[in-house]
Amino acid sequence: MNSLEAARTHQRTFLEQLKAKKEPYIIQVQGIDVVVYPGVFPPVTDSRLLAAYIKVNPHDRILDLTTGSGVSAIVAGLQGATGLAVDLNPAAVVNANENFKRFNIQFESLDSDLFKNVPLERFDQIFVNGPYTEGEITDPLELSFYGAQQFLSRLFSQAHAYLKQKGRILITFAEWGDLNFFERTATSNGFDIRIVDKKTSDNERTYRLYEAKLSRP
Ligand SMILES: C[S@@+](CC[C@H](N)C(=O)[O-])C[C@H]1O[C@@H](n2cnc3c(N)ncnc32)[C@H](O)[C@@H]1O
Repeated sequence: MNSLEAARTHQRTFLEQLKAKKEPYIIQVQGIDVVVYPGVFPPVTDSRLLAAYIKVNPHDRILDLTTGSGVSAIVAGLQGATGLAVDLNPAAVVNANENFKRFNIQFESLDSDLFKNVPLERFDQIFVNGPYTEGEITDPLELSFYGAQQFLSRLFSQAHAYLKQKGRILITFAEWGDLNFFERTATSNGFDIRIVDKKTSDNERTYRLYEAKLSRP
């Protein structure tokens, strides 16, 4: 079995486990108790990789573009930043807003397909950990897995309008995904990218954290 097939097998098993969740539960990230609702993607290895590199100034404005339970926004909010957190899964929007209230942080979650409903504003940092593969979406939880190429094309072609000239995108991608497509899409849309770090799950699935900045600020 190659790494993509192994990852897909893992995705299917994990998806069944998530669909079986009927009650909210807690996942700890960076010492923070994040409540996760049924029907919402929980923080996993790539979430932890991203969270470890979230460093903000208190005046920073943040856009968490794939918020899920709100974990990345919570980490930034507890450091004093404010901003918006979006998700296409309505259950995630409710979940994130509840977590923001619990932590009393100045973030608001809204229902949006990437930038679609985000009021035009230039953010200091944009956080993204979206899908890595292709497949049919039959349940909102699968938005976390499938539709990577369309997601990346839209993200990198639209992000300019929402990023300050010296701002950055922190974005994860899987080594078992189409890394060439990922890197080509970022660079052909005018971003310089660098790998910040990597993290491996179960000694099997490795994720990369990239920083993307506008090539010509
Ligand atoms: C892998 S999960 C990550 C969630 C959270 N950031 C975390 O680390 O736990 C990806 C999230 O992106 C959302 N998503 C996928 N496609 C999206 C899109 N086009 N617009 C907004 N959110 C999207 C999914 O619904 C899911 O909640």
